[in-house]
Amino acid sequence: MVTHAVAVVGWHEGLAGQVHSWLAQSGPYRVVCFVHPDDEAPVVQPVTRDASQFDYPTDSSFKGLPLLCKTTWPAQLKAQGIDHVLVTLDDAASRLQAMTAAEAAGLTLINAIHPSVRVMADALLGKNVILHAGVHVGYRAEVRDGAFLNTNAQIDHHDVIEVGATLDPAVVLAGNVTVGRAARVHTGAVVKNRIRIGAGAVIGAGAVVIRDIPPGATAVGVPAAVIKVRR
Ligand SMILES: CC(C)(COP(=O)(O)OP(=O)(O)OC[C@H]1O[C@@H](n2cnc3c(N)ncnc32)[C@H](O)[C@@H]1OP(=O)(O)O)[C@@H](O)C(=O)NCCC(=O)NCCS
Repeated sequence: MVTHAVAVVGWHEGLAGQVHSWLAQSGPYRVVCFVHPDDEAPVVQPVTRDASQFDYPTDSSFKGLPLLCKTTWPAQLKAQGIDHVLVTLDDAASRLQAMTAAEAAGLTLINAIHPSVRVMADALLGKNVILHAGVHVGYRAEVRDGAFLNTNAQIDHHDVIEVGATLDPAVVLAGNVTVGRAARVHTGAVVKNRIRIGAGAVIGAGAVVIRDIPPGATAVGVPAAVIKVRR
């Protein structure tokens, strides 16, 4: 089987690190390097954690692979013959910017879909989509470019997860829900059917959303109430 050399943009252990641990199971991929899209190496002070295993980047490597620190990373990857990329940046604006830069340089954006994911009939998946373990994508749901669905997130039939949106672990969306561009639904939130969450909105952990949420709003609680709106 032909395998594609893949560069993973990002170096956070909980996202890039985690996806790297199973990416080879989600297609013909072999991660050959990580990318920090900046000319300065990341400055990270390791902190004391309860977990005994945690990787931090150095100025030249992450998880035993090279870490390329260059704003010109797309051209550098091309020059090295690395044609496939997965952007794992947590911040939606940075993520979408990196995806655009990759495609402009002729790189191919891949998806990372854990083998335990269930994708129902006629669901549509965009590019640079990350679906973590246990995710359920319902019948005719649409997950657009750069959307991330974290562990055990469930989206039901005809839901639309717009470009660059993120669902944290254990989020549950009923049917016909739309999560707007670059919006974020935090851990364990539940969203009633036919709700629209506006672009850039943030839903707090554990919220129960029963009304539409305007663009740029942060909503928390049960039922979810808007506590602020970003202008
Ligand atoms: C929604 C959230 C992003 C808001 O963060 P913030 O804008 O910094 O808001 P603050 O922490 O200043 O809280 C503002 C108010 O909302 C309340 N609040 C914040 N998050 C809440 C939540 N999830 N549920 C209920 N109330 C919440 C706070 O108690 C505070 O109330 P007060 O003004 O009466 O004291 C954040 O609290 C949250 O839920 N984060 C989830 C993180 C997560 O799940 N990460 C997973 C990564 S994989």
